Amino acid sequence: MMKSGGEGFVFSGEDARKAASIVARFPEGRRRGAVVELLSMGQSLNQGWLSPQVLEHVAGLVALSASDVRDIASFYGRFNLEPAGQHVVQVCMGRSCRMRGADAIMQTCCEALGIEPGQTTPDGAVTLKRAFCLGGCSRAPVVDVDEDLHAPVSVQQVSDMLADLQKDGDA
Ligand code: FES
Repeated sequence: MMKSGGEGFVFSGEDARKAASIVARFPEGRRRGAVVELLSMGQSLNQGWLSPQVLEHVAGLVALSASDVRDIASFYGRFNLEPAGQHVVQVCMGRSCRMRGADAIMQTCCEALGIEPGQTTPDGAVTLKRAFCLGGCSRAPVVDVDEDLHAPVSVQQVSDMLADLQKDGDA
């Protein structure tokens, strides 16, 4: 379990043991290697985003600064540095996907949601993100909705998916 809230965030109980065993896999001085796994844990325990308190706690575990940890997090599309919407849509903008129409898909998303990549709709229903290779290049173009890969997707399919997500948000 975690302890979180305005006053801070720490892994506790079983999560603290798991975090310690992740850190222990890396020798002192190379603990940067544990950051991504720790951030994944922190995000899933903190309503889907990495608050400054989560970044600080992870930084303390690996003896890095919170800004170093934030830099690492910002490199990965799957980490949210702001509270995420109810649904997170990631459009892959990697090379294979761009060769197969990712730009049109991203444009469709921006127009349908009325936001830019990195933003959340004002009703909190959907966060739109740009990703760089989601590991499905042979099926490009790829869109990830709530950690579920859809590939290959057409502009029409993406429009339909977004309409469903927005309906969900109205419910
Ligand atoms: S480039 Fe899009 S999945 Fe690899």
